[in-house]
Amino acid sequence: MDVIVSLAKRRGFVFGSSEIYGGMGGFWDYGPLGVELKNNVKQAWWRSMVQLRDDIVGIDAAIVMNPRVWEVSGHVAGFSDPMVDCRNCKLRFRADDLKGAPSEIACPNCGSKGTLTEARQFNLMFRTNVGPVEESASVAYLRPETAQGIFVNFDNVATTTRRKLPFGIAQIGKSFRNEITPGNFIFRDREFEQMEMEYFIHPADEDACFGYWVEERMRWWTDVIGIGRDRLRLRPHEADELSHYSKQTTDIEYAFPMGWSELEGVADRTDYDLNAHAAASGKGLAIFDEATGEHLTPYVIEPAMGVDRAVLTVLLDGYEEQQLGKEKRVVLHIRPQLAPVKVAVMPLLRNRPELVERARALAADLRPRMSAMYDDTASIGKLYRRQDEIGTPFCVTVDVESLDDGKATIRERDSMTQERVGLDAIPERLAALIVGTATWEGTPRPPAEADG
Ligand code: GAP
Repeated sequence: MDVIVSLAKRRGFVFGSSEIYGGMGGFWDYGPLGVELKNNVKQAWWRSMVQLRDDIVGIDAAIVMNPRVWEVSGHVAGFSDPMVDCRNCKLRFRADDLKGAPSEIACPNCGSKGTLTEARQFNLMFRTNVGPVEESASVAYLRPETAQGIFVNFDNVATTTRRKLPFGIAQIGKSFRNEITPGNFIFRDREFEQMEMEYFIHPADEDACFGYWVEERMRWWTDVIGIGRDRLRLRPHEADELSHYSKQTTDIEYAFPMGWSELEGVADRTDYDLNAHAAASGKGLAIFDEATGEHLTPYVIEPAMGVDRAVLTVLLDGYEEQQLGKEKRVVLHIRPQLAPVKVAVMPLLRNRPELVERARALAADLRPRMSAMYDDTASIGKLYRRQDEIGTPFCVTVDVESLDDGKATIRERDSMTQERVGLDAIPERLAALIVGTATWEGTPRPPAEADG
């Protein structure tokens, strides 16, 4: 994890939030490369969950909602973790992270015995006030999950899109939790982004649909994001760890450096949320099911994941250190679609204006189609290494021969092999390689000119 934290900071993926003031636990800023990677992960999810399907639509609801939403959803009463305080060093810990009864164990921070308080429930929602007066009537919450924005819009979406069961509503957006122990870099944050989809079904389809989404989400992680199946596993929740709204939940876990931990949860929320909102608001949230001729409150299957955890997983899973002769090569093996930079264009000799001009022109030609950068700030070997480390799948080098034969060399990150392609054909060739409609046909360079 330390290696990834250092890479993330050094190369501009993720910085500590407000670092110049000492940072703030559980808050992070995404840098120039991080924001591209994060956007690509979100785009991959949106494309799979919304754009490639005809049964799911998207929304973008407000973060701050009427506080009644959170009373009715059960979050005001039930969205809490057990917490203990140390009377000596004043730090707080999650009771379920401690091994043993608080009264009998030493404080994990200062080591003093008998100073931990009994566990008490600590609500994880951030409170704020809306409007000019700070009084109890103006209290509102920053949403701890995006899902409620979907439930309260169920009728709006079903009516305006004339949906029939089964159908889903998807959303990507920020969520906030005042976690007692944020940590493991961007794994557990206090401000983070979620991608959640609520799939509304006839209650009789509950188990089949739950199984379908567990499998479908696992397929997304392996086939779309490219995470190794051996580093992923499914873990059904025990009855005592289910959220207050869930009848059954299965987590997709990844083998993180700190151990197997949750990447995504698929939950069977039944009709818990729609029933609760219908009863409290007085608005009917039932739907007519044409297949059975019944008026019913749909059940809901919910795949819910965190964007920040996905970004961390892509970085961890892709990272490799290779020994090439005497040199170490750091390479980030990430899918081309996810890579922050798709292609870096460089002149072989930066003191030859004709090469610089040709390379800059090629980068400009590429930019409307893909994220392309021009770089001539070091030798070719060093530039390749810099791009390998941030996961750039292709580099193009314009050399002296290019001025005669109108071709340049494309070099692929993982194999370090090369193809010689006409300058005019390069944008088309790279676009096809990135979306996977063409296959790479590189050949190794002769040893004297080999990479590095
Ligand atoms: N609507 C259901 C729900 O919010 P959850 O298991 O609490 O379920 C879903 O959260 C996903 O959101 C998790 O699998 C995780 O990827 C992400 N997530 C939850 N809490 C997080 C946190 N504090 N920091 C980063 N990601 C978090």
